[in-house]
Amino acid sequence: MADKMLHAIVNRLAAGHSLERSQWRYLLTLRDDDDKEFLRRSAADIAVSHFGKGIYVRALVEISSYCRNNCNYCGIRCSNKSASRYRLTKEQILNCCKEGDMMGFNTFVLQGGEDPIQDNEWIADVVKSIHAEFPDKAITLSVGERGYDAYRAFREAGACRYLMRHETRDEAHYARLHPANMNASSRRNALLQLKELGYQVGSGMMIGSPYQTIDNLIDDFMFLDELQPHMIGIGPFIPAQNTPFEYFKSGSVEFTILSVSLLRIRFPNALIPATTALATLHPQGRLMAILAGANVVMPNLSPMDVREKYAIYDNKKSNGNESAQQLKGLENELAGIGYYVDYSRGDYVENKK
Ligand code: 5AD
Repeated sequence: MADKMLHAIVNRLAAGHSLERSQWRYLLTLRDDDDKEFLRRSAADIAVSHFGKGIYVRALVEISSYCRNNCNYCGIRCSNKSASRYRLTKEQILNCCKEGDMMGFNTFVLQGGEDPIQDNEWIADVVKSIHAEFPDKAITLSVGERGYDAYRAFREAGACRYLMRHETRDEAHYARLHPANMNASSRRNALLQLKELGYQVGSGMMIGSPYQTIDNLIDDFMFLDELQPHMIGIGPFIPAQNTPFEYFKSGSVEFTILSVSLLRIRFPNALIPATTALATLHPQGRLMAILAGANVVMPNLSPMDVREKYAIYDNKKSNGNESAQQLKGLENELAGIGYYVDYSRGDYVENKK
């Protein structure tokens, strides 16, 4: 039986209130299995009451593994000379979308490094072409910090969602994860600009990234409170070879699941993916996240021959039910826990309940 304090805090969250630091700390340091199970079940119930047993799918196209940035955790950081690089052409991306359309997807996510060749004009042109060919599909971009004018041009071209994790709210922690030319406030500012432009905005952070403390995570939760994102992606940190963090240990699956539960309870309407990083660390990772309140999966629709090259961390899953080509497998996997694939666009809706 979960204790009184836990019930009181969960009720406070469920009533739409935020929490004090000490209350977040209490939740993030829960050790008792029954307490964690209570949180997980509360989160799953909230997700079901808002979305039913449907799990939205987004087709993910990884458009480039070139990146001008040098983030310490990321396998495609520019100074990783061993990384395999590729960039898709517009035609390849359009072909992926055609394939995704035939499979039944209604959302395309274009994700890539900050590739100087795939510049803002190029991205806008690709979005425009996809939008012209598939006017009813949601187009999501995840192509990093590009500046207000670019975000506006992408929006005008037909993009309606943008994913960009804030990574960590704490400036000092951010500085340990990133090179000196990047900073936490410009990232946060970009997220505000995207919101202002009317995007459905996704943010998030890794769980268990090097040097991360509980206080850092509390700051992350409090930042999300402020930002009120429509989508929140979290996944465990996983070391990537030939990066400064190559020998750090992975984030905990269990702690990531606890964090998913907390996000769901705090943000009942949010779109929360069961991330590939979780599926990479644990064969049941995706299902565990769904049973803790996640309601989105993002199968990989990148051309088969480039999937291994988009190696932001080691052993990243792109086959099996992570693959867009395996939707039947995903359907079966979800059916096994009483859920199903919802093929609709799955836009953010305030008061979904
Ligand atoms: N482990 C886990 N997640 C990572 N990302 C980048 N590198 C890693 C890693 N080594 C996440 C970042 C980024 C998203 C696209 O992938 O949070 O925003």
